[in-house]
Amino acid sequence: MKNLNRRNWLRAAGLAGTAIATGTIPGLSNEKLYPPTKSGTDDIIRLMSNENPYGPPKSVREAMMSAMQYGYQYPSSHYDVLLDKIAAKEGVTKDHILLVSGSNEGLRVAGLTYCKPGRDVVTCTPTYGALLRYVQQFGVNIVNVDLDENLAFDLPAIEAAVNDQTDMIFYVNPNNPTGALADAAESLDFCARMSDRTLVFSDEAYGDYIEEENYPSMVSMVKEGKNVIVSRTFSKVYGMAGVRVGYLIAKPEMIDEMRPKMMSYVHVMALYGAAAAMEDVHFQSYALQKNREARQYIYDVADSIGMPYIPSHTNFVFVKTGIDVAEVAERMKKHNIWVGRPFEPLRNWCRISTGTDRDMELWGAAMKKEFG
Ligand SMILES: Cc1ncc(COP(=O)(O)O)c(C=O)c1O
Repeated sequence: MKNLNRRNWLRAAGLAGTAIATGTIPGLSNEKLYPPTKSGTDDIIRLMSNENPYGPPKSVREAMMSAMQYGYQYPSSHYDVLLDKIAAKEGVTKDHILLVSGSNEGLRVAGLTYCKPGRDVVTCTPTYGALLRYVQQFGVNIVNVDLDENLAFDLPAIEAAVNDQTDMIFYVNPNNPTGALADAAESLDFCARMSDRTLVFSDEAYGDYIEEENYPSMVSMVKEGKNVIVSRTFSKVYGMAGVRVGYLIAKPEMIDEMRPKMMSYVHVMALYGAAAAMEDVHFQSYALQKNREARQYIYDVADSIGMPYIPSHTNFVFVKTGIDVAEVAERMKKHNIWVGRPFEPLRNWCRISTGTDRDMELWGAAMKKEFG
């Protein structure tokens, strides 16, 4: 933002009056614009759950408070408030969308609908475990393939592991916990070909953080009528992890198959909050900018103490500490800093979520003291 004319930028953002009146320095690096909303646990620096500490922004909180007036109604008559916005953003009709209480619910509902006992889900390890742990409870086998040398999904290795026992490929891109991104063309080609053989579930929880130009969402495959489900969430850039709202995109007949497996409605406050979050483009760019800065800070600290890391396309960085993660977590806890848990088999790595400037500085100081 340095090179932008400050007054024009403020005017464009509709903030000129407030920012000048309160004497704050306008710009994306100014935390006063969106003070982190932490309470209660302020003494703990939460770098373990890939949250966005700047959310939810005021626009979302106000929309949620106002939605309380509908608290006596079942929420389904309010679904269009959010469905219309998602349909416009994704370029699909509303019957392609299943609203869920956090994308975790979507992962489980897809697993419950399409993965059968005794059959296989093929994925890479380590990756996000919610769907995998859920389907294991009813006897589905997980076929784990190693990540590639960049710790992104190894698509050729997955392809080689798929056979007529496979009910689903669980594909997380960018991957959690590594933050690595697969090559765009390879990803498209992989999903196009594999979805002719089995169901491809594309978990795009961190899709909003991808900065590579024209990086494709697998929603394009859904539009082509492919056997693909995409999941997205409001928990990350939108800063609404505690509100629990996300969605699946798939062919209408698949949405109809999954809907009866759901256990809950999306809360009416979540519907209005998420719709307001989609409108608040200023907050989104602020959150992305703060995330970029924090990520760079993590890289700089890691460089300064000689720890390699995976360049991240998310709101966390996977750092090779060379020390068992249980010990790293324990030593960081002494500083009231909570960092990532073990992600087998990569125990000598630690996932650090991005935090506020203050969180990052305290984390950096603790890292240098403990491991520098
Ligand atoms: C890859 C991935 N998918 C899904 C989720 C679930 O997100 P939520 O249930 O908050 O939408 C997460 C949460 O961290 C994640 O990392």
